[in-house]
Amino acid sequence: MTKAIEIAELTKDFEIGFLRKRPVRVLDGLTLEVPKGVIFGFLGPNGAGKTTTLKLLMGLLRPTSGTARILGEPLSSVAMRARIGYLPEQAYFYDYLTARELLHYYGRLTGVDDVTLARRIPELFGSVGLEESAFDRQLRKFSKGMLQRTGLAQALVNDPEVVFLDEPMSGLDPIGRRQVRDLILGIRDAGKTVFFSSHILSDVEALCDEVAILNQGRLVETGSLSDILNRRGGQLEIVVTGLSDDALGRLRADGVDISKSPGGALILVPSEAMVESALAKARAAGGRLISVSQTRSSLEDFFMREVGSGEGKDSPADS
Ligand SMILES: Nc1ncnc2c1ncn2[C@@H]1O[C@H](COP(=O)(O)OP(=O)(O)O)[C@@H](O)[C@H]1O
Ligand SMILES: [Mg+2]
Repeated sequence: MTKAIEIAELTKDFEIGFLRKRPVRVLDGLTLEVPKGVIFGFLGPNGAGKTTTLKLLMGLLRPTSGTARILGEPLSSVAMRARIGYLPEQAYFYDYLTARELLHYYGRLTGVDDVTLARRIPELFGSVGLEESAFDRQLRKFSKGMLQRTGLAQALVNDPEVVFLDEPMSGLDPIGRRQVRDLILGIRDAGKTVFFSSHILSDVEALCDEVAILNQGRLVETGSLSDILNRRGGQLEIVVTGLSDDALGRLRADGVDISKSPGGALILVPSEAMVESALAKARAAGGRLISVSQTRSSLEDFFMREVGSGEGKDSPADS
């Protein structure tokens, strides 16, 4: 059993409207596999259906159709629930509990004994960067960042094998984002699987072994980041000088994507493997190499190109 999560044709319709209800498809036939031991980024603009997917996986919503398994078990498995952790997008905890009481409560709920909890709770608070003075303070006095850290500790209290985090960096300052990033890396290094959603590319780019990109309820891409980037772009620019207009024309006729540029001539090749042959042709025509560089092609470009249109759908609740 090497899969942490298997999702097959998962679909969710919501009924909207009041007097005349009509179904709206929010998740449309999502099929996805997440191997064990990776950090998996579930990426998409606001409204893409990420939270809905997580709620379906957590058994908080019922799918319209389709199935999913976690750790090889069906979603209905109670034993499986004790082996996973979940940080909701908006965690509403009971305000009058202290952080320590909250963790103790969730720990007992998932079957962790008191002795283990007494040791683990301060450890967890330490790793999420919650100050010791806050352990026994009521949650209603916590800032958004402190609540997010407490929520992360809560998601880890049963030492889960798979951790589901819905926008774990939201509401955190740069230092907090960094801490969460290190924490997620630490979870993976301990052999666990992390499935986290984000609408922020840089968080995903910095962390993930594999990603899935969701837009308007549909899977756009899935795979390793480097594969996706190689498939999508990854163009290289070669700048050469010393070519006459005549030579330029001949190279173009030979199938080289070459154009005049202020510094001489610019050759575009689709992949690194094609640099040598393009360069050889340019040299044979009298050109001299100035530079070879990768055109800016990050996931950001890809994201803007593919799903940029979804950006206008920001809901007020999202940061
Ligand atoms: N309970 C609900 N009833 C109706 N529509 C919903 C409900 N929950 C979410 N939606 C809609 O489903 C879409 C996907 O939402 P969500 O899963 O929260 O996206 P994401 O987490 O990617 O931002 C949005 O258009 C949202 O308005
Ligand atoms: Mg969401």
